[in-house]
Amino acid sequence: MSSEKTNQSWGGRFSEPVDAFVARFTASVDFDKRLYRHDILGSQAHARMLTQAGVLSEAERDAIVAGLDEIRGEIEAGTFEWRVDLEDVHMNIEARLTERLGVVGKKLHTGRSRNDQVATDIRLWLRDEIDAILVELNRLQEGLLQLAETEADTIMPGFTHLQTAQPVTFGHHLLAWFEMLSRDHERLVDCRKRVNRMPLGSAALAGTTYPIQRQVTCELLGFEAIGGNSLDGVSDRDFAIEFCAAASLAMMHLSRFSEELVLWTSAQFQFIDLPDRFCTGSSIMPQKKNPDVPELVRGKTGRVFGALTGLLTLMKGQPLAYNKDNQEDKEPLFDAADTLRDSLRAFADMVPAIKPKREIMREAARRGFSTATDLADYLVRKGLPFRDCHEIVGHAVKYGVDSGKDLAEMSLDELRRFSDQIERDVFAVLTLEGSVNARDHIGGTAPAQVRAAVQRGRALLGQR
Ligand code: ARG
Repeated sequence: MSSEKTNQSWGGRFSEPVDAFVARFTASVDFDKRLYRHDILGSQAHARMLTQAGVLSEAERDAIVAGLDEIRGEIEAGTFEWRVDLEDVHMNIEARLTERLGVVGKKLHTGRSRNDQVATDIRLWLRDEIDAILVELNRLQEGLLQLAETEADTIMPGFTHLQTAQPVTFGHHLLAWFEMLSRDHERLVDCRKRVNRMPLGSAALAGTTYPIQRQVTCELLGFEAIGGNSLDGVSDRDFAIEFCAAASLAMMHLSRFSEELVLWTSAQFQFIDLPDRFCTGSSIMPQKKNPDVPELVRGKTGRVFGALTGLLTLMKGQPLAYNKDNQEDKEPLFDAADTLRDSLRAFADMVPAIKPKREIMREAARRGFSTATDLADYLVRKGLPFRDCHEIVGHAVKYGVDSGKDLAEMSLDELRRFSDQIERDVFAVLTLEGSVNARDHIGGTAPAQVRAAVQRGRALLGQR
């Protein structure tokens, strides 16, 4: 028997060492070492619980807890030697603990398995990530509220089919993004509840014969609940999938937002300016200032959708309980969390720096017959049926296109050619201000409503 070469953690029943390529192929340490802090937290809680359960002595527990603290120090100082032959973060840390403490280090793994250990680690890690993501999301929403308040009276064209539709206020437009991000926030907070359930104690799959006290580790680790079934605890990654789904929706929103910023900074729109620090130039075209940050966020959205699809596919064929497939959960999950966090951070930094070009926005709204619906509504108030009004205004717009005049630029006589119901008071409704002010109800674009919505938004953020 070649005991000297088989894996030190599980080599007992093996008669030849693992193939060198297979060892590399099956190892996860290159990426799961990122979980070291949470792995150590989980191990320290487990050791404390084992002492309360009478499995470890207090001295053993103290040695383990202190030893793990020192290992964390080594990792953070960059002096820890990660070994691929030790497969993953769990066995690297445990091997080092044993190297430092001898026999006591080997006792840590009593009553647990890497299966419940890794499920615990990812949940602890993801919980922290969600909290960090929520901080950036909050910051972005604060920035949107601030800008919306400043731009409550700024008029721009509102679009459908990317064709000028009706005038809106820029503040109102910004608050649409605020609203979407509020739902993203809700989704992440809700997802966190299901992330924050404890699989530790499931052991390999069936639970353990030791008198473990799961409420102790649950409390030490700040979990909200104890997973109710050991087979489920070690195997399902629905919490990670749910996070990727929530992250995908948030990225989808940021991607749409990005698309607007790209359009608005173009020479064709010129609605806004982004400060140079969020843009880059071209090495060949000296005039270029490219909106790289929004473009990149739009592009990175695909990675997060990919993570969602990848994890769903990873999970769908797995019988209970743990399968090695699950080792593949980490890279997509890490990438999705990093991408969302960085994208939110970039947006939170960039949004307060958006400089609207108010005159150009206003001019664009004036040019596109954006008050045509207002003219139709005016005629309805004079007693005509809406369908007839629609037709009348259609003719007026056609005349405007041919003559190069906006509705508000036509004389009363010109307008009366389309309906004798039109009187001098029509000009009040054809102005941009008249148009936006008239939409004065909850969720409408009137500046007064935008200000009210900003206050509601502030109250919402204050409750978080
Ligand atoms: N590296 C593994 C993973 O990420 C840890 C659990 C391994 N368990 C096992 N029985 N091989 O899933």
